[in-house]
Amino acid sequence: LLITKLEPGKIFFAKNAAPLIVAKDANGGIFFASSDAALIGVADEAAYLDDGAYGVAGTDEIKIFANGKDINLSFSKLAKDKSYAQKEGYKFFMEKEIYEQSAVVAETLMGRIKDGEVSLEKIDAQALEDVDEVIFCACGTSYHAALAASYFFERLAKIRAKVEIASEFRYREPLLNKNSLFIVISQSGETADTLEALKIAKNARLKTLAVCNVDNSSIVRLADATVLTRAGIEKGVASTKAFATQVVTLWMLALQIAQAKASISKEELKSEIAALLHVPQILNISKEPQERIRRLAKHYLHGHGFFFIGRDIFYPLALEGALKLKEISYLHAEGYPAGEMKHGPIALADERLFTIALMPQTVLYEKTKSNVEELAARDAYILAISPEEFELSDDFIKTSKQAHPMSEFFEMMIILQLFALEIAVRLGNDVDMPRNLAKSVTVE
Ligand code: M6R
Repeated sequence: LLITKLEPGKIFFAKNAAPLIVAKDANGGIFFASSDAALIGVADEAAYLDDGAYGVAGTDEIKIFANGKDINLSFSKLAKDKSYAQKEGYKFFMEKEIYEQSAVVAETLMGRIKDGEVSLEKIDAQALEDVDEVIFCACGTSYHAALAASYFFERLAKIRAKVEIASEFRYREPLLNKNSLFIVISQSGETADTLEALKIAKNARLKTLAVCNVDNSSIVRLADATVLTRAGIEKGVASTKAFATQVVTLWMLALQIAQAKASISKEELKSEIAALLHVPQILNISKEPQERIRRLAKHYLHGHGFFFIGRDIFYPLALEGALKLKEISYLHAEGYPAGEMKHGPIALADERLFTIALMPQTVLYEKTKSNVEELAARDAYILAISPEEFELSDDFIKTSKQAHPMSEFFEMMIILQLFALEIAVRLGNDVDMPRNLAKSVTVE
């Protein structure tokens, strides 16, 4: 994030691809930033420039042009709340954001479930009736949320779902079908690869939808419609609450389409909604799991790598757990489908290979167990995360028995986030500002 208060003199600027926001305060001060997170509490109102805009700013005036003509910027009020900028007793923003997840998911759900049905504002599920395929496109953690969403869309809404990594999609000359709905997922709304992928979909005349955390961001302004995830400002470079709110939002979207298409029964819808409403409770955790994970973390500082494994929706969660760990601990970690280990990676198994096994009780427990047993038989060091005792594990984190897979998903998600955090802290790393990473990747 860049923020500059102008000193006397003039500054010339132009907007091309990377985000640029112009803001003002009550005293005539003019500011430039790449995200409004930097402006909140500093400036009062902001205007979001489009590509091709350019101009000149003095200490108290600003002129903006596009295509050789003056344009009038429309400024909107910025929020005044700076509480996100304080750690509120936590050592790291990432830690604070992990514990905030219960409250922000409650916010994500707020007003979106009415009379036993999901009703996301601005989504007319009937208008999506001719959609016969959904293409999700995103990067990093948002890509993992997309992958999780593909399971909901096929299972609940009975719509074919494809998942694309934006940096691959934009150069592989994809064949696109006009009846596909193109859904981009982004915390920042400014990720260059995702934005370019969205432009390709728009040029191919697909219907587009953004699932995004930042209103007025470039992706939100370009997409035909947006569902905001309402995670609030996320400061930690390693995404936590943004992921939780993305998954919840996409789950709701799949359910809303399922309702409109009557592709799930009334009882199933009722149980899905009950599970959705239960998420804030699952995410409302005491400090006890973190204390326990802190003690376990010392076992994981050496070795030659980590495999996070899971099946079904626990596979995207395994990918996300591995990404969290590599981002902030700088240790090598891979997420893998548990059933795929025998097709190659099991060759790496020895006592210095750490396996983090997601073993939910509600999804393919016996299958996952037998995959983990194969690794244990090759002496891999196993951390099992499960409600079921697993006698072959070296370390064990017991989760609670739950009726719905997503309840297990969110309980394990927090464990993985805390696991990454505690290892990184033990290694003395800067958890909030990991090396080589930026919060918003506005270049390709
Ligand atoms: O803002 P976006 O969601 O589009 O960002 C995508 C990735 O850059 C982002 O998720 C990145 O992987 C995070 N650092 C993950 O913690």
